[in-house]
Amino acid sequence: MGNGIDYSAVQRYFELAGAGSSSAASYMAHDQNLPAAAIRYRFAVELKTIGDWLDAVPADGAVLDVGCGAGAWTALFAQRFGRVIGIEGSESMVTAAKDRTQDLENVEILQGDVRQDLPDGPFALVFLGGLCMYLNDDDVVTLLTSLKERCRPDAAIVLRESTVPERSRQAEGEYQAVYRTVAEYQQLFRRVGFSDVQLRRNLGYTSMEIAIELVEMRRRWLPFLPASSQWLGALTWWPLRLTAPLSFRRLPRALDRLNVPWPGLQNHFFRLSV
Ligand SMILES: C[S@@+](CC[C@H](N)C(=O)[O-])C[C@H]1O[C@@H](n2cnc3c(N)ncnc32)[C@H](O)[C@@H]1O
Repeated sequence: MGNGIDYSAVQRYFELAGAGSSSAASYMAHDQNLPAAAIRYRFAVELKTIGDWLDAVPADGAVLDVGCGAGAWTALFAQRFGRVIGIEGSESMVTAAKDRTQDLENVEILQGDVRQDLPDGPFALVFLGGLCMYLNDDDVVTLLTSLKERCRPDAAIVLRESTVPERSRQAEGEYQAVYRTVAEYQQLFRRVGFSDVQLRRNLGYTSMEIAIELVEMRRRWLPFLPASSQWLGALTWWPLRLTAPLSFRRLPRALDRLNVPWPGLQNHFFRLSV
């Protein structure tokens, strides 16, 4: 699994998505019309999930944000660390990331393909937020090897990737991505030579995925309602958000315990010690 990504389709997809609502597309919330509050909530939960990993990075260190999208994490890193470089393939996303970080003097946004255009280090932190899911297995290994070479000896590489509980699968067509299991990611990390790997479930992502699945159900079961509607997107999000302890925390954990694979997509953070 993970050897059939059409890279030009990935490039095309993010070019178009980034030209619309770039920050929503960067966080994959655009297709279901979820409100901006859903993105902010997911981001806040994610930040909390890896807060201690970021606290451990020296404040004067340099950070590389690989596939930085519209630059949400790039801007956050710039407020905490000495220097940040974001690299991104899609021109529309690059424009959005430059706009977002224009007042931050310690940020540089580069347009390039991460498979060949990586800047030199050394970096104290390398972040890949939803990037390896758009790369074939061998390219993940080559990329992580190149990133490792650009790291300080005390650095960490942090990845945030969509995962599946059981069998890996691939999305084909206009939107191409490979959804690997956690075990498959760990196997790729071993191929690069990483032995110290920490893992955390990303419940911030799950919150958004629950809302996405409900929007898709509404589209299937109530086809007479408008498929695309900001109003219906908000109406799906807010009841879930207002019952977050139940809907976003207890429910996914209970379903996990019962081995019910819903929502079908999960997401994990990985921390690789260099
Ligand atoms: C799901 S978005 C995540 C963006 C950002 N990391 C975030 O967390 O908001 C993935 C991004 O990776 C970029 N990307 C995918 N493959 C790439 C490649 N080979 N080189 C550069 N950027 C790439 C896409 O254009 C897209 O902006």
